[in-house]
Amino acid sequence: MEALAVLKQAFVKTFGHADGLTVVRAPGRVNLIGEHTDYNGGFVFPMAIEFDMMLAARKRTDQVVKIHSIDYGSTVEFTLDCPLTYDTKELWSNYLRGVLWAMQGAGAHLGGMEIAFLGTIPQGSGLSSSAALEVATAVAVRHLTDFNISQPDLALLCQKAENEFVGMKCGIMDQFISMLGEEGHALLVDCRTLDYEPIPIDLGGYQILICHSGVKHSLVDSAYNQRRQECETGVRILAAHFPAVQALRDANLEMLAACAAALPPVIYKRCHHVITENERVLKSTKALKAGDLISFGQFLNQSHDSLRDDYEVSCSEVDLLVDLARKVNGVLGARITGGGFGGCTVNLIKGEAVEEFLAQVIPAYQKETGIKAQVYTSKAASGAEIL
Ligand code: GLA
Repeated sequence: MEALAVLKQAFVKTFGHADGLTVVRAPGRVNLIGEHTDYNGGFVFPMAIEFDMMLAARKRTDQVVKIHSIDYGSTVEFTLDCPLTYDTKELWSNYLRGVLWAMQGAGAHLGGMEIAFLGTIPQGSGLSSSAALEVATAVAVRHLTDFNISQPDLALLCQKAENEFVGMKCGIMDQFISMLGEEGHALLVDCRTLDYEPIPIDLGGYQILICHSGVKHSLVDSAYNQRRQECETGVRILAAHFPAVQALRDANLEMLAACAAALPPVIYKRCHHVITENERVLKSTKALKAGDLISFGQFLNQSHDSLRDDYEVSCSEVDLLVDLARKVNGVLGARITGGGFGGCTVNLIKGEAVEEFLAQVIPAYQKETGIKAQVYTSKAASGAEIL
């Protein structure tokens, strides 16, 4: 059965009937390049994918909120008469609670609601199922409450929910692309101004192949938050010499070299990644627009190497997957995508080489790690929409 039919059926089973429903879909994302640059005020280049969250919601006449997760087969219930608080049992519900909390804080007049949702984004894959859930919730609640807010501001509220309610200090990339993605395009986003440029994903005989390593190392969130702090330390040291540096976005390699003696080696490496990654985003999108896929692929490779060596957010399994992919004739570039410590790789591959990828990379990876990696293909999808 199609996801929409499953959603409606589960809604009826849980809440009695399907009258007055608002149904929203919000996509996951794959980031093509620009990793750990968003919270440094820099550039990212993600595309929304054809895997998504589907959420159905309707108003109640009281202050009670009931949420049913179809994937977890569980329902939570709370009242808006009390302040919204973190749920230590049903952790999934905090993404929705957090969005309600952030929207309430921004002035939305919430009332009781019934919500059911399900997702097709593989969990733990780093393809942003949580951001998609936040965005789907926000779009549905905006519609139900007639809350007047722009798409970028609503994405910022979703980020706030994740930063302050859930406790993951993510940047704006995932919520932004899930909200504003455009079919057939990836978005070059300036994460300082939130200006963005849709760039056609016109790959000729090539395609984007996503490969899930099947691992998600623990402590991801704490390691992520630690990277953010290391970047902040870097900014403080650089700003002491160059006051114009407000974020790593403002720094360049000359400044970094000038401050090398003052920077602890780990901080130096973190800054080196962010500065070079920002440059790579701009150069690679330029190459893509010029149809130069060879250069685009080389930038993807350099991005991975920098994330592995300077930012140290890869892991042995993902490095193996990348190394194996690069040996396939027809792979122009391969790198880790998303926050890191497991999750997926993104590969730029010739259509005819996919078979060889499946025949070589997947068995060799399984032989070494015991894990069968999953492969997904997706066109660039559109952002959140009311169906
Ligand atoms: C996670 C975060 C994003 C971004 C990436 C790394 O996906 O949610 O904000 O920082 O990691 O690029």
